[in-house]
Amino acid sequence: MATTLLQSSNEAHVSKVCEEYSLTPAEVKTLHSRCSSAKATAYCPYSRFRVGATILTDDGGYIDGANVENASYPVGTCAERVAFGKAVTEGHKKFKAVAVATDITPPASPCGMCRQFIREFCELDTPVLMFDKDGAFIVMKLSQLLPLSFGPEALPPPSSLPATA
Ligand code: THU
Repeated sequence: MATTLLQSSNEAHVSKVCEEYSLTPAEVKTLHSRCSSAKATAYCPYSRFRVGATILTDDGGYIDGANVENASYPVGTCAERVAFGKAVTEGHKKFKAVAVATDITPPASPCGMCRQFIREFCELDTPVLMFDKDGAFIVMKLSQLLPLSFGPEALPPPSSLPATA
């Protein structure tokens, strides 16, 4: 199932995903439409590669982001990190799903830096839905996108550290 190309217009595909990842068809539909629409907000004059991202919070909210590039190229930020930055600074702490859309096919997946960024805030079984330009999509758990990952629980609690380094 992990790397199977699914169709968002195919009800059987969508319900299989919903069953496997505890989502509703309405949530999958909304994730798809919101991350696709979010591409229109991208600032990407250098790559012209639009990426939209949407996060579903555990209380049923949706937070969108898009890539924001910079004349100093490495300074640009991916859609996923823009969306998580918004979500976290708006006070959200738990997330049910992440969705990404691009204008290419087959679907693009979050870059390595974004996978690690997502890892900070999501459980390893969080589904990441990756949509192509036509609504075909792949779903993978975060643990599949980032195996053997390093996360916050690997560090000693700040309270156990000496006051000065
Ligand atoms: N990009 C994203 O927004 N997310 C990814 O996971 C991959 C790449 C953006 C960064 C840059 O603005 C453009 O796509 C081309 O790399």
